[in-house]
Amino acid sequence: MATQPSSDHRILSIYPFALVSLLLFGTVRLVSENFCWRNNANAHSLQSDSLEILPSESEEQGSSIDNSGHESIVGWCNVFDGRWVLDNASHPLYTEESCPYLTKQVTCQKNGRPDSLYQNWRWEPYECKLPRFDAKKLLEALRNKRLMFIGDSIQRTQWESMVCLVQSVIPDGKKSIHRHPPMKIFRAEEFNATIEFYWAPFIVESNSDHATNHTVQRRLVKLDSIAKHSRHWEGVHVLVFESYVWWMYKPVINATNGSLNDVTEYNVTTAYRLALETWANWIESKVDPHTQRVFFMSLSPTHLWSWEWRTEGDGNCFNESYPIEGRPYWGTGSSREIMGILGDVLQELKREVSFLNITQMSEFRKDGHTSVYTERRGKLLTSEQKADPITYADCIHWCLPGVPDTWNELLYAHLLSDYPIL
Ligand SMILES: *[C@@H]1O[C@H](CO)[C@@H](O)[C@H](O)[C@H]1NC(C)=O
Ligand SMILES: *[C@@H]1O[C@H](CO)[C@@H](O)[C@H](O)[C@H]1NC(C)=O
Ligand SMILES: *[C@@H]1O[C@H](CO)[C@@H](O)[C@H](O)[C@H]1NC(C)=O
Ligand SMILES: *[C@@H]1O[C@H](CO)[C@@H](O)[C@H](O)[C@H]1NC(C)=O
Ligand SMILES: *[C@@H]1O[C@H](CO)[C@@H](O)[C@H](O)[C@H]1NC(C)=O
Ligand SMILES: *[C@@H]1O[C@H](CO)[C@@H](O)[C@H](O)[C@H]1NC(C)=O
Ligand SMILES: *[C@@H]1O[C@H](CO)[C@@H](O)[C@H](O)[C@H]1NC(C)=O
Ligand SMILES: *[C@@H]1O[C@H](CO)[C@@H](O)[C@H](O)[C@H]1NC(C)=O
Repeated sequence: MATQPSSDHRILSIYPFALVSLLLFGTVRLVSENFCWRNNANAHSLQSDSLEILPSESEEQGSSIDNSGHESIVGWCNVFDGRWVLDNASHPLYTEESCPYLTKQVTCQKNGRPDSLYQNWRWEPYECKLPRFDAKKLLEALRNKRLMFIGDSIQRTQWESMVCLVQSVIPDGKKSIHRHPPMKIFRAEEFNATIEFYWAPFIVESNSDHATNHTVQRRLVKLDSIAKHSRHWEGVHVLVFESYVWWMYKPVINATNGSLNDVTEYNVTTAYRLALETWANWIESKVDPHTQRVFFMSLSPTHLWSWEWRTEGDGNCFNESYPIEGRPYWGTGSSREIMGILGDVLQELKREVSFLNITQMSEFRKDGHTSVYTERRGKLLTSEQKADPITYADCIHWCLPGVPDTWNELLYAHLLSDYPIL
């Protein structure tokens, strides 16, 4: 990072506090660890009349969905370059009350947040219009398919957002959520579609993989091991990966690369690259480009120090009710090195992976975090804790409805880019 060592040190030493709130795995309970999957042998044969949400054969060689030649919304436009516009007619796309699946980690209004403008912003790319999110259309495209989000609690929020975005068009009794740690699975019965979340905060294996009881302090990552997780990803039609904040605890991280007896402290950047390469090898050897589509989310920014966006004050995201405006802003919490590694690995990949570069757009949204209107260790913050935002504000996670809904609007635009009616 091109910042002074002192501020680097401040970032890295402050993450542990922020990370305490990552400890708990939402409401996933320690129920049966037994996975019960129906035989997936037929999942690979795409129905010819099904909507194309998967790359067609002609696109498979190294090209990206961005040059598919279709009249696609993302075909000619960088949808990540744009601005936030206030639009309370279209946003939020659902409310806290209308979605029964929101966890108390993200229901900021219910948890006492006084302002709600953060729900009313719509992302507007400079060069094109985003399609209106149409839950029915997405479910139709996902008919007989599985969509899976893989990563940490940030990804879990994106999963929750996606579930809320689609659930309102499904009648009661035809939708359900099942918990199979480390997974949470939303099922839309009439569509035979699932929207799933898989907890794997480092993507590769680590000692933080248990869904509820994972060590935060003494983390150990197995940089060359992924099979334990990846066997659950095989055949999944749409895979959406994300991994960042768990790496950023210290500048070095204990890891193994080969023998499990050989634990070494790696530079985080080195470790991240090795882990991504392990992931990339899996993608290249196991993902079928005809039946599966892969996305990678860029890092979700944090807003831990208000001096980064205003001149005075030593606060954080607490009490921020308006996005950053006017100039591009990039916080020191978003590692350009990690971003560069992501760019390198994805570029070298011999499979098509769509990179959802949501970092810059989300950087503007210092107003979008859960702040003190959230839970910690499974309990809502007490009023004493709420009165101490310097210690207790969570400036990593996001309120719902909120910023992750927009990430899903962008995912939607990509998924349906082959859909001619858009
Ligand atoms: C939307 O904003 C306008 C202008 O600020 C206001 O008059 C209107 O009541 C708002 N509508 C909703 C649904 O909040
Ligand atoms: C339901 O979807 C799964 C894939 O998620 C597929 O394997 C299965 O064949 C589908 N069932 C029917 C009846 O189409
Ligand atoms: C959590 O994991 C630690 C270390 O693996 C273990 O000692 C502890 O008993 C576990 N706690 C629960 C509640 O399972
Ligand atoms: C790595 O593990 C060693 C031995 O357990 C420990 O002393 C050290 O603090 C750990 N390093 C990090 C970065 O966690
Ligand atoms: C990690 O292991 C892989 C093989 O599994 C090897 O190619 C690579 O050189 C190792 N890297 C480091 C930094 O140890
Ligand atoms: C780790 O990072 C430090 C500081 O950025 C650098 O001096 C060192 O050479 C790196 N070590 C390795 C093994 O990459
Ligand atoms: C919150 O912001 C408002 C207006 O920006 C300010 O008047 C108020 O003092 C702030 N409250 C705290 C606790 O920082
Ligand atoms: C993501 O977008 C930012 C600007 O918004 C850019 O600086 C960065 O290089 C992009 N990352 C990759 C890997 O393309």
